[in-house]
Amino acid sequence: MNLSADLPIGIFDSGVGGLTVAHSIKSLLPKEKIIYFGDTFHLPYGDKSSKTVRYYSRKISDFLLEKSCKTILIACNTASASAFDEVTQHIGDRAIVMNVVDPVVSLLGGKGKNGKVGVIGTKGTINSGTYRDKITRRFPSMEVISKATPLFVPMIEEGFIDDDISDAIIHAYLSDRRFAGIHTLILGCTHYPLIRRQIERFFKDEVEVIDSGNIVASELQRKLQERDLLNPENGSDKHEFYVSDYTEFFDMISRMFFEEEVHLEKLDFWT
Ligand code: DGL
Repeated sequence: MNLSADLPIGIFDSGVGGLTVAHSIKSLLPKEKIIYFGDTFHLPYGDKSSKTVRYYSRKISDFLLEKSCKTILIACNTASASAFDEVTQHIGDRAIVMNVVDPVVSLLGGKGKNGKVGVIGTKGTINSGTYRDKITRRFPSMEVISKATPLFVPMIEEGFIDDDISDAIIHAYLSDRRFAGIHTLILGCTHYPLIRRQIERFFKDEVEVIDSGNIVASELQRKLQERDLLNPENGSDKHEFYVSDYTEFFDMISRMFFEEEVHLEKLDFWT
């Protein structure tokens, strides 16, 4: 692996959801340059077949590699669940490949290694069984309660956050009796941090709600440190944000996810 510290960190998602992870990385590692690709042409990934998501993920990884990224971070749970092994194999030692599932699963070890854990995400993520399999392989006495919550992504993108509509949808999904007694709820979708506080309130602050942003940023820091690849110089004034389709709406919601102005550049990537 011939990587150097001044190379950028490549991040991709089906759209703008991964910007929640990019934001955590920017906060923890302010000197790193980020190259972000949102595959808005194909959004949502949550309803696509695993084979299709693997194909998209491989092509986008090639693009990030062409941009000389030292890391390719799959900042989408759906793509992490279906495509991580394939992308890892495809990229080989040309970059460090990371997903957003493993760092979260590893962290669960600090929760006593048993009890009941809830996981919510898109249909693609939940139906893949990735969280359940990874958790029970590592912590066989943990019980995993998984539920697809497919309305959350369009709800968030339509701006229904912290209001009566989102409260009603959150209630409809999470009042599932199977969630009674969980000690932790994993937000298995990079859109969901935007409704995290509402979900915490739904569980009366008695359930620990975790999302991948800060956890993945810390794991990335650890991996880069281990290989002496943390950028000592400041390369962060030149972040690049690409999308495969563009609407003004995306520009607007990208601000919501990244918590600051983002200039999205449209690439004719698939056409
Ligand atoms: N951000 C994606 C994820 O984490 C969800 C959006 C989609 O369905 O494409 O799974």
